[in-house]
Amino acid sequence: MPRRILVTSALPYANGAIHLGHLVEYIQTDIWVRFQRLRGHEVHYVCADDTHGTPIMLRAEQEGITPEQLIARVFDEHTRDFAGFLVDFDNYYTTNSPENRAFCEDIYSQLEKNGLIARRSVEQFYDPVKTMFLPDRYIRGQCPKCGAKDQYGDACEVCGSTYSPTDLIEPYSVVSGAKPVRKASEHYFFALSDPRCQAFLKEWTRSGTLQPEAANKMDEWFAAGLQDWDISRDPPYFGFPIPGTDGRKFFYVWLDAPVGYFASFRNHCDRRAAAGRKVDLDAFLRPGGGTEMVHFIGKDILYFHALFWPAMLEYSGYRTPSSVYAHGFLTVNGEKMSKSRGTFITAESYLALGLNPEWLRYYYAAKLNGTMEDIDLNLEDFVARVNADLVGKYVNIASRAAGFIHKHFGGKLAPDVDRDSFGAEFPGLLAGVDVATEAYERREYGKCLRMIMQGAEHVNQYFDRHQPWSLAKDPTQHAKLHQVCSTALNAFRLLTLFLKPVLPRLATDVEKFLAIQPLTWSDAGTLLPGGHAIRPYGHLMGRLDGKQIDALVAANRESRAAPSPAVASHSPQRHPERQTHASADASQATAASSAVHISIDDFAKVDLRVARIVKAEHVDGADKLLKLTLDIGTETRTVFAGIKSAYDPATLEGRYAVMVANLAPRKMRFGTSEGMVLAASGDGPELFLIGPDSGASPGMKVR
Ligand code: 2FM
Ligand code: ZN
Repeated sequence: MPRRILVTSALPYANGAIHLGHLVEYIQTDIWVRFQRLRGHEVHYVCADDTHGTPIMLRAEQEGITPEQLIARVFDEHTRDFAGFLVDFDNYYTTNSPENRAFCEDIYSQLEKNGLIARRSVEQFYDPVKTMFLPDRYIRGQCPKCGAKDQYGDACEVCGSTYSPTDLIEPYSVVSGAKPVRKASEHYFFALSDPRCQAFLKEWTRSGTLQPEAANKMDEWFAAGLQDWDISRDPPYFGFPIPGTDGRKFFYVWLDAPVGYFASFRNHCDRRAAAGRKVDLDAFLRPGGGTEMVHFIGKDILYFHALFWPAMLEYSGYRTPSSVYAHGFLTVNGEKMSKSRGTFITAESYLALGLNPEWLRYYYAAKLNGTMEDIDLNLEDFVARVNADLVGKYVNIASRAAGFIHKHFGGKLAPDVDRDSFGAEFPGLLAGVDVATEAYERREYGKCLRMIMQGAEHVNQYFDRHQPWSLAKDPTQHAKLHQVCSTALNAFRLLTLFLKPVLPRLATDVEKFLAIQPLTWSDAGTLLPGGHAIRPYGHLMGRLDGKQIDALVAANRESRAAPSPAVASHSPQRHPERQTHASADASQATAASSAVHISIDDFAKVDLRVARIVKAEHVDGADKLLKLTLDIGTETRTVFAGIKSAYDPATLEGRYAVMVANLAPRKMRFGTSEGMVLAASGDGPELFLIGPDSGASPGMKVR
């Protein structure tokens, strides 16, 4: 009986680029999904962008666009990157959808009926200028333990201590710079502390849905006691309003995110139905439908998927997950991904530089197992493994054997490759299907690839042992030559089948080369018919050049100091282990997804001064520039300003302007410019010099 499986990967936030850290999960899931499809099981792989919450709202505001515009743009970027890495979703959707809203409202109302929604007043920091409550990550100040400046509201990056934002010395809002005040508001809670939830979760944990280390984590959480979960946020908030609150309360983004799995699946079912290929939605979303629901996640979001999500589902009449598979973080060269080192590598840059996505799929697969251990992308090892194993051992078989078949045998395989002798030569290839099946099923991809590469090595040894190049020289040995090359190509076909979940594009190219139907798991243990005609060998996969890796790292290296992070975690109830999906330095991960606010300290770095324009002159040979001599109290400065189109120099002398006094001097063709004057401009050509009100004198600080 084919299994019927709904598979998900975690929904990436709609305010940042997909990077190699994210891809561990999507590649891991995609391999599993492709494997299940090859076995003939019914799989629906769905995902979506995670679009709600404060960071996305503020990010859009900062960019001067609506959240809807931001998420539409990011949606295009994400789907492009996933397709580029051959991640084959059946549906990729958005949490900002009518389907999602309907599911959220339904789940919420069922929980309320079941007495699992509690309300109580919560006092939190509030930004009186921006008139909004501030998630912890939007409050910064001095660390109460070590005194380090500019630390987050929940943890100090200097001494590593954790605390609550109320402990910060001189806290300020990252959004407006204002001093936050304490303010109370009513919040809605999912009553996870209810004995029913506790009892259910304890049993669910033991039902085999979790990896052993995840189940141990759950035991720790049980021992610490389950707390109610705050599921509401006050406006302004980009999300769904909670029914019955007249827009006064919104669902917290983490409430609607996993529900987004259902919404994407419903949208998938509707599209399939419209195409005449109906899927039974209820069989997947209601209990007892004989189907599975499998979530792939990072270990950082286990708390949400193994506690809140199953409990929510259990008490709102939906099915609970069959499996939650958590993976570890990605490190690059043994360290956290880093923008300054150039190892915070985006999917887009990898593809744009022409690197083959299947190289990375192969490398990740070789490193992955079914545990929550972190995996390391060692860039040197990456080059070595791709070239030595994938190209040197596996692809090499086809290029070595095909030439002889075409040159001497008209492109046809030997009439009689004997199964028994093939099995005797390569027992692992004929019988290896059980090992491969179990390994893929358990996400032990590394184990599976080791077996496959051992097989490839045997085939190469077999080839070398028979020296086909010598056989080719002796016509009496041609039957033997035919056997050897045909045997090697049969072996190549079986290796390709086992590699197909990992290397789907290469497998398709091999199928064309071998002139065969798409391989499926039922081809395991079979050989090509005698005399089968193949096509000429075309280049299957190139080598990875170390220089390409250098270029990739250079393209991702940021020399500028990352701006002070403002938009980091979605979760004010951030579990201590909650990190970004990849294991990246907090400041850098943040900069990747936001970099939209600066702190007051950043602003203070710009030394703005009132300047009197002593002299303004035309510059010979410059169409746009005027040369200004500026008095800033303590000294005079020369500045070349691009304001010629708007001002006659004669009218400028004696006027006051505002200059950036600590800008690095810049050598120009006409001389050195020692600063910059500020001017306003719009889309058109007009320019308006900024000046202080009367009474200001040269050298005064503008702040
Ligand atoms: O951690 C994250 O990146 C979240 N956007 C994952 C959400 S997964 C699911 F719950 F939607
Ligand atoms: Zn500290």
